Amino acid sequence: MIVVGGSSSRELAKELASILDCKYVQAASMRFPDGECYTRIDEESIDGEAVIVQNTYPDTNMIEMFLLQDAVRQLGAEKITLVIPYFGYARQDRVFKPGEAESAKVMCKHLNLNCDRVLTIDLHKESTLDHFTCPRRDLKAASAIAEYFENKNIDLVLSPDIGAAGRAKDVGDRMGVPHDHLEKTRLSGSDVRIAPATMDCKGKSILIVDDMISTGGTIVAAKEALMEAGAKSVSVACTHGVFVNNALERLTGSSLDAVLCCNTLENSVSHISVAPIFAKALKEKW
Ligand code: R5P
Repeated sequence: MIVVGGSSSRELAKELASILDCKYVQAASMRFPDGECYTRIDEESIDGEAVIVQNTYPDTNMIEMFLLQDAVRQLGAEKITLVIPYFGYARQDRVFKPGEAESAKVMCKHLNLNCDRVLTIDLHKESTLDHFTCPRRDLKAASAIAEYFENKNIDLVLSPDIGAAGRAKDVGDRMGVPHDHLEKTRLSGSDVRIAPATMDCKGKSILIVDDMISTGGTIVAAKEALMEAGAKSVSVACTHGVFVNNALERLTGSSLDAVLCCNTLENSVSHISVAPIFAKALKEKW
């Protein structure tokens, strides 16, 4: 097995190869003056399985992934496994209004043209993977998040909405603390309303967990609801720290106790590694 790191996921790919005790190669990717992508894997040949670690977000990384898939096949890889830490376009997983594209399906179908198995983590909707015809698995980051927050005196784990309640339960159960969920209504792409917290928050250190933080609107609204309900402190952890525009500064500069994310997207707060979770799945037969 050889691990090939694309330009979006170098540190994670390196760590993965180290845990798996296998060869790591960094693809040399660059942009031509007109913006087109060029990539090269500096190997004579690849025998057996090539594991490509690369995000499909933003669009430029999707193109790099397509090229990496072809490059490893040209080098002779018999099996191509895609490790997609952050899967772009996953949120447009159906046609919401007539005339739209089913973006998540489109991306799966194109990636599916040249791979033999696929691994994602905390995909927006697990069923999106059904658009692949090869073996695929969506992993969960809950164990890594729970481990990070163990011994940090968290009293309660919450999700911002009922859709993510299972994640709060998973993290809470692993930490041995109670869990619950808030009630969220999305008003626009960047605005959400969180209903006043009805659970007992007084004097508690609360951890909010979510699959992703994009604009940060959800977390800001959730934190305000919890502080109003008397929380002592509010921390947040997500799997995918997308942090568009100045979302990260907005959150770290707020009264949140801690802002953490996993290293599916690499940034200054991606201190929770999911490499051991991917490594475990790659060692298993499936
Ligand atoms: C929604 O379904 C997701 O779980 C996140 O809560 C959402 O995408 C976060 O977005 P934002 O940070 O823009 O509020």
